Amino acid sequence: MKVLESFQAHTLPEHIRLLSEKQMDERVREIKGELGSRLFMPGHYYQKDEVIQFADDTGDSLQLAKTAAANKEAEYIVFCGVHFMAETADILSEEHQTVLLPDLRAGCSMADMADLKQVETAWEVLQKKLGDTMIPLTYVNSTAAIKAFCGEHEGATLTSSNARDMLTWAFAQKERILFLPDQHLGRNTAYEIGVPLEEMAVWDPVNNELEYEGDLENVRMILWKGHCSVHEKFTMANVDHVRQEHPDVNIIVHPECTFDVVQAADTAGSTNKIIHTIQNAPSGTTWAVGTEMNLVNRLANEETDKTVFSLNPNMCPCLTMNRIDLPHLLWSLESIVDGSPHHVIKVEEETKRQAYTALDRMLKR
Ligand code: 13P
Ligand code: SF4
Repeated sequence: MKVLESFQAHTLPEHIRLLSEKQMDERVREIKGELGSRLFMPGHYYQKDEVIQFADDTGDSLQLAKTAAANKEAEYIVFCGVHFMAETADILSEEHQTVLLPDLRAGCSMADMADLKQVETAWEVLQKKLGDTMIPLTYVNSTAAIKAFCGEHEGATLTSSNARDMLTWAFAQKERILFLPDQHLGRNTAYEIGVPLEEMAVWDPVNNELEYEGDLENVRMILWKGHCSVHEKFTMANVDHVRQEHPDVNIIVHPECTFDVVQAADTAGSTNKIIHTIQNAPSGTTWAVGTEMNLVNRLANEETDKTVFSLNPNMCPCLTMNRIDLPHLLWSLESIVDGSPHHVIKVEEETKRQAYTALDRMLKR
């Protein structure tokens, strides 16, 4: 019975499956018109074109967190992004607002690489080794429970747009940072603000051990051994190949890419920075981009006076972001007009309160 219920929860109703794309487009438009300001639909840059065309606001993780915090009017927030983003919207929303994620399978493999139990174990072991010298920081690409852990332990959240500022803030509070869950963003940002690689250790949550050779006293940055499976696919071989094929190329990558790729690129930055850099670049320039494919393809289609392509020609989109498609979006909107919103994201109260503290420390800066 449970298996059947779970299957039904993810299976599109037949009447939606039978609609053409044009009919779905029209129906989405109709429902949006009907709901007016009762509905707000934020969309992350990585979303498919068929979905992002309907977004009321598009942005990177930081912008979307701010947008979610600012909108106090909409009764329904249909989040076109992944699970942690919808959770963030719920944490920042008011009691009268309901957050929906069109497909509950739209998770994030990186966020899943740190669970609360693992983090509590790491904290305990590390405190025994290093005393009360650490502050936890988590990338927003993490579960609400991890954000709550950071809130409870004087830490905060960050995004790829404000990572530098947040690390600088954290180092003013404590000697060491426990950085969750993306080792690459942590390493790239710490290096950028002057922390040498020799002062960075890696916490392996599977074996519960600290990977570091040297005197522990020198460690300032403890990187959780997590990564983004999309951004890790950009390699030095891609960089070398592109530079060989296009000697005039500009390589721009997201800081979720590995350290060597970020160092070898010409520029690194959040999705927002990538977009603005390419939009403001002179006509005729060539750009190899190291980030998710939906965004790269959109830039290639929009910036027609420039040559834009993926740094890895065999790249595929973020599969979980892609779970949000037009049929699921329509299904979600229909559930609202039918009076029984489904795939509602509701963070438990205590977690919400602590996670809010962590997010608020970031948003106030
Ligand atoms: P930003 O939107 O912060 O650049 O993050 C990219 C990302 O991977 C979101 O999942
Ligand atoms: Fe997660 Fe990476 Fe997909 Fe972003 S691109 S949602 S970090 S798996």
